[in-house]
Amino acid sequence: MLFCKKVKPKKMIIGENIKQAALIIREGGLVAFPTETVYGLGANALNPMAVAKIFEAKQRPSFDPLIVHIHHFDEIYALFSSPISHWVQKLAEAFWPGPLTIVHKKSTSVPHIVTSGLETVAVRMPSHPTAIALLKASECAIAAPSANRFGQISPTEASHVTKQLQDIDYVLLGEKVTLGIESTVVSVADEGCFILRPGVITAEDLEKVVPLCSHNPNETIGSLSSPGLLHSHYAPTKPMYLLDNTMDILPPHSGIIVHTNKKNWNTAQALFITSQNGDKKEIASNLFAAFHTMEDNKAIQQIFIEPVEENGIGIAIMDRIKKAVFKYK
Ligand code: TXA
Ligand code: MG
Repeated sequence: MLFCKKVKPKKMIIGENIKQAALIIREGGLVAFPTETVYGLGANALNPMAVAKIFEAKQRPSFDPLIVHIHHFDEIYALFSSPISHWVQKLAEAFWPGPLTIVHKKSTSVPHIVTSGLETVAVRMPSHPTAIALLKASECAIAAPSANRFGQISPTEASHVTKQLQDIDYVLLGEKVTLGIESTVVSVADEGCFILRPGVITAEDLEKVVPLCSHNPNETIGSLSSPGLLHSHYAPTKPMYLLDNTMDILPPHSGIIVHTNKKNWNTAQALFITSQNGDKKEIASNLFAAFHTMEDNKAIQQIFIEPVEENGIGIAIMDRIKKAVFKYK
């Protein structure tokens, strides 16, 4: 006789218990945790079965590699292959702990599932106190993409995580996520570094420390430079359009996201002002919260978003905005 076992949905714990969360990581489970950039969805980076659960929970395609998080510089010796480019140390001294991810040739101990078969691995040392405490207590490196469903909006609050993902063991609460957009990702070799994804650490910041290359020094023929960098990403589940500044009247049921309080938007059903005075750090820190708020508002059918000037952090902000509106151009 055959017994049909009912598959129960996983029981997700939401709390502040670092020890319990670390134990789950050590035992091969999934923990969502705050970092200074966005919430991450973490698993033991050296346990391929645990890492596979990340791809399942996020419905992330297997071609999109993960970032490995560490809390001590010496952990790179187990993750990067020798010889390690001397620029790694320079970058780490200048920007770690913090929102910089370094892609470098990987060592053989990094499982292929983490790097999607690439010969490089992405590593970051976060500065968020909860992330650091979790890394220390887990006693292992943690692979963690942003804790959202693939292609959807990155989470900056625990509620953004629970809205999108179910198959997680623990959602760790902690101090606020301050920066609000994902880390700058750079590919590093002896020649210098190449920016794969813009972030709060800008090209000008990097240039002070390491030469910037015009091409990816780790790119091998036939490989994608950074497979996760698709044109459409970070997108709310409602149409989003760039706001044309000559527009005064919005179609009915429109939400609008602007970055100063200069203009009166009476015809908008909902208004989100990311910054009163156009401060780019403030805009970045509120950007994904604005996306989530508009997505959750049932009265809104489409969203208009004001562009920002593409310089400094504005490059990273516009990168996220362009990816959110890409499908609807
Ligand atoms: O701020 C952040 O970076 C957050 C927090 C949680 O640390 N993480 C994050 O991870 O944004 P994720 O998976 O959403 O984005 C990682 C990006 C992807 O675009 C991926 O393609 C790229 O990093 N990446 C990872 N490994 C790579 C590699 N070996 N070569 C090139 N790109 C890589
Ligand atoms: Mg992501």
